[in-house]
Amino acid sequence: MLINSGEYVQNQSVTINNSDEFDKKITLAITGASGSAYALRLLECLVAANYQVYLLCSSAARVVFDTEVGLKLPSSPDAASQFFTEKFNAKPEQIIVFGKEQWFSPVASGSAAPKTMVVCPCSTGTLAAISQGMSDNLIERAADVVIKERGQLILVPRETPFSTIHLQNMLSLSQMGVTIMPAAPGFYHQPESINDLIDFMVGRLLDHLNIAQSIMPRWGYQAFPSGKSKTS
Ligand SMILES: Cc1cc2nc3c(=O)[nH]c(=O)nc-3n(C[C@H](O)[C@H](O)[C@H](O)COP(=O)(O)O)c2cc1C
Repeated sequence: MLINSGEYVQNQSVTINNSDEFDKKITLAITGASGSAYALRLLECLVAANYQVYLLCSSAARVVFDTEVGLKLPSSPDAASQFFTEKFNAKPEQIIVFGKEQWFSPVASGSAAPKTMVVCPCSTGTLAAISQGMSDNLIERAADVVIKERGQLILVPRETPFSTIHLQNMLSLSQMGVTIMPAAPGFYHQPESINDLIDFMVGRLLDHLNIAQSIMPRWGYQAFPSGKSKTS
């Protein structure tokens, strides 16, 4: 979780056990666009897939969490790590939360950062900052690192309508190899609940991350009860 300056010790180095207990590492950033429920479900699935998750959460994301799902995230990174660890029954050090200016965290350097990062949901503000390489907080820096190291960066922007600025930023990032997956669930899987819509997006994200998932079948892989083909 990304915390405001002053809420944590800046530039504190981090000791992380390099255990082979986890299959892979990933950076997940949660920003202040609507759609916190996508982030929670994605985090749950990454834990279930035995990923170690370096978690960054902007201040605005904390407000949106409270507004949308009634979650009051603790303000210190350690307390937030514990909060998510307990919530998702994760292993020790499986979810590690870093603060906004924790520049000595692994995600801040190409020598240590996971090669894969997802920003979900991604605000238009963070979208703009990433597209311009601002690196003014740990989320922006982590994304900049993944781009420069030519890793896999997936952004899940959410806004409507998109302005020309938003569209230009998305185009520019897409041309650099960043994957833009707007939070735009389909309806052809015949959703019966909000959870079905959330799983549409998270299933597609997991597909792009090459993580086996059964929450949302791929196109043509499963029939609906009605006999229709269940879709991508
Ligand atoms: C409840 C709520 C919903 C919001 N929804 C969106 C949204 O869907 N998309 C967006 O780009 N910004 C949205 N915002 C505004 C962002 O949170 C705001 O621009 C913030 O500065 C983004 O900061 P961040 O990128 O550091 O998270 C929302 C704010 C709140 C409080």
